[in-house]
Amino acid sequence: MKITVFNGSPRGANGNTHFIVKEFAKGAEEAGAEVENVFLVTKTIGHCRGCFSCWVVTPGKCVIEDDMTDLLQRVTGSDVIVFATPLYVDNVSGLMKNFMDRLIPLADPHFSRDENGECRHLGRGDVNLPRKIAVISNSGFPEQSHFQVLRLLFRATSALNWSVKSTEAPANSSGPGMSFSRRCSSATRGCCARLAASWSRTAAFRKRR
Ligand SMILES: Cc1cc2nc3c(=O)[nH]c(=O)nc-3n(C[C@H](O)[C@H](O)[C@H](O)COP(=O)(O)O)c2cc1C
Repeated sequence: MKITVFNGSPRGANGNTHFIVKEFAKGAEEAGAEVENVFLVTKTIGHCRGCFSCWVVTPGKCVIEDDMTDLLQRVTGSDVIVFATPLYVDNVSGLMKNFMDRLIPLADPHFSRDENGECRHLGRGDVNLPRKIAVISNSGFPEQSHFQVLRLLFRATSALNWSVKSTEAPANSSGPGMSFSRRCSSATRGCCARLAASWSRTAAFRKRR
């Protein structure tokens, strides 16, 4: 079993987060897993530009050419991924959030509903998402209650359903927005129309600048 730990502490291998990760890795390796540590602070990861190209122009591929290309392959090449992050202002660190935003090429643009009836994205049908995610965090304050935001965040993130893939074909690259309306099996969800509208707004915004 391949486990990849993505560590979002700016202190990298010297941080308290890695101190905990090392113990986790020891146990996992004893149980036969192969564990790899990725220190996000050592990587070049640009901010998501919100262009939706990875959904509507080049499905699954981000326009930014940086270390995320390799990191996405590490995600899809793992059975389990671990989000390891210090608690920063009641949340994940900025490094971790930036990394999480850039995972969006792995998600299917279509809306699905989770068990609470809330809209979420499933994983794309043509990529291997890890079967499980795990979270390791630590804080300065001693109470468990400080992790409330993280609990909510990762529960929502796990709704990406790392093991459940979209049953629809991945978007093709026939043009921004259009491919969705053509292939969408459920017009009632309205996600294709919304995405197309969002794409048009982004394109119009770009033209104005
Ligand atoms: C910018 C910043 C924000 C932080 N915010 C919180 C916080 O909201 N709650 C908390 O309990 N600790 C907070 N801490 C403390 C860290 O979570 C704590 O020092 C942690 O052990 C750091 O892990 P690391 O050494 O792996 O980076 C913060 C630390 C920094 C530098």
